Amino acid sequence: MSEPFVAILMGSENDLPVMEAGADVLKQLEIKYEIKITSAHRTPAVTQQYISDAEARGCQVFIAGAGLAAHLAGAAAAHTTKPVIGVPIDAGPLSGLDSLLSTVQMPGGIPVATVAIGKAGAKNAAYLAAQILSLADATLAERVKAERAANAEKVQAQDQRLQESL
Ligand code: RP5
Repeated sequence: MSEPFVAILMGSENDLPVMEAGADVLKQLEIKYEIKITSAHRTPAVTQQYISDAEARGCQVFIAGAGLAAHLAGAAAAHTTKPVIGVPIDAGPLSGLDSLLSTVQMPGGIPVATVAIGKAGAKNAAYLAAQILSLADATLAERVKAERAANAEKVQAQDQRLQESL
């Protein structure tokens, strides 16, 4: 079987600055990934074809970020039984609440694991994908644990600097 990978999808080039935060986490954890711009509304056939093709090539988790009436994660979930993680993006006057609701409110049977709006969500989508992959990869599980510990150390170092400045 081909090497497992994560696919990061987004509806527009304008979503890239947010979704790159997730790509950075996957890079850090040494997880193979593909990143692609494809839209549920503007390129529906390309989206469907990519999901089927990526699944056949070994994609284990899909991350989909979109703004406004965000249907990309739902459209992906309609075409795969691999886990789909949705990242709502703040792309308009409703500050991402529109995309949060349209990503999270999936009908029963077609789940999308929806994370926070924006960059924190993109990062958590990547961490969640890593945790899913680590169920079958003990080495990756160790990297995920080490990353969590490193993050804790960063916060403790911040506090130490604060205490020393008082
Ligand atoms: C969505 O519409 C995209 O995900 C993007 O967040 C939003 C606006 O797209 P652009 O008009 O900026 O290309 O499909």
